[in-house]
Amino acid sequence: MVAVPGLRSPLVLGIETSCDDTACALVDGDGRVAASAVSSQIAVHRPFGGVVPEIASREHLANWRAVAGEALARVGVGFEAVEVVAATRGPGLVGSLLVGLSLGRAFAWARELPFHAVHHLEGHVFSPWLAEGGAPAAPVPERFVALVVSGGHTSLFRVAGATIATIAETRDDAFGEAFDKLGKRLGLPYPQGPEVDRLAELGDARRRRLPRLAGGDELFFSYSGLKTQATLELERLEAAGARATARLDEEPPLPAEVLDLVAGFRDSAVRQVLDRLDRLHRREPFAILAVSGGAAANRELRRRLPEWAAARAVELRLVPLAYAGDNAAMIAFAAVRRERLGRRDDPLAAVAASRLAIGA
Ligand code: KG4
Ligand code: ZN
Repeated sequence: MVAVPGLRSPLVLGIETSCDDTACALVDGDGRVAASAVSSQIAVHRPFGGVVPEIASREHLANWRAVAGEALARVGVGFEAVEVVAATRGPGLVGSLLVGLSLGRAFAWARELPFHAVHHLEGHVFSPWLAEGGAPAAPVPERFVALVVSGGHTSLFRVAGATIATIAETRDDAFGEAFDKLGKRLGLPYPQGPEVDRLAELGDARRRRLPRLAGGDELFFSYSGLKTQATLELERLEAAGARATARLDEEPPLPAEVLDLVAGFRDSAVRQVLDRLDRLHRREPFAILAVSGGAAANRELRRRLPEWAAARAVELRLVPLAYAGDNAAMIAFAAVRRERLGRRDDPLAAVAASRLAIGA
């Protein structure tokens, strides 16, 4: 029994440390997010232009206690109120994963609590049903198609009951990764994806169209060709005298022709997503589409997906912005579902894995 009014048993503690965010959350049996605390490591990695794995693990170790404390304090309970423990087991940086997973394992074992070693993407897949503002999660349908766009993944899944099957993946760069790399070339600070998105708002994609990978009728994604195209265009503009290094303290931060290129890049990246959804929908129509992952915060994607879905009478569930980036509420929510399915893991046997298939 949870001793907190308004919350339903079991109270799940979620722990997520797969990359550079140290996250702890408390989610109840109705999928209500009682607290979701995330400590970002942006400031420590920024001087290096990207995540340094060794530093990330050390930061998780140093910060997790404060992050867990914050989540518990928000609910007004102590560790003794926790009834189920869930931690991410992969994929991700193995040193980072080990911190959160080992903590979860030790805590569950010592307190003899049910334990769930959760696949990071399973967390993202169900996150669109989480609600902000302390409301219970909406009921998750039996069947739907899930699109996860993040820094490490651009994946389409088919969910049917208890099974999650991969339909397509990226063959090279992930959607968010391509934004990060182009942003790095533009001299933008880490994490570059959101900055590139912001700068794209200032340009006009129609003035500098970039091709979108065709690939016949295939469903796989590929972003490295687009990234190279954008980089080559940038070099051409530079050779013609344009400044290609952003000055964030100036307005506009880049010359108009470079902003148009950034907008053209984003437009093409988003069109590739819509194109793959079209192909899949034509091949095997689906009624519900769930979109999640850090890059699901992309403004253009959030504008165009509702139009795409409405035109095909597809019900769209876009992850709330609060749960788009890595967080522990989605990990705890995946455990709520696993509890309902009667699936649990042995805390002494769970292993962290940097690469991990979703059904594994
Ligand atoms: O899910 P997430 O927090 O971590 C991973 O599991 O990868 O996603 C982070 C990724 C980064 O590549 C980041 O640059 C990208 O999502 N991202 C964006 C935007 N916001 C975050 N990419 C494009 N547009 C955005 N607005
Ligand atoms: Zn993620």
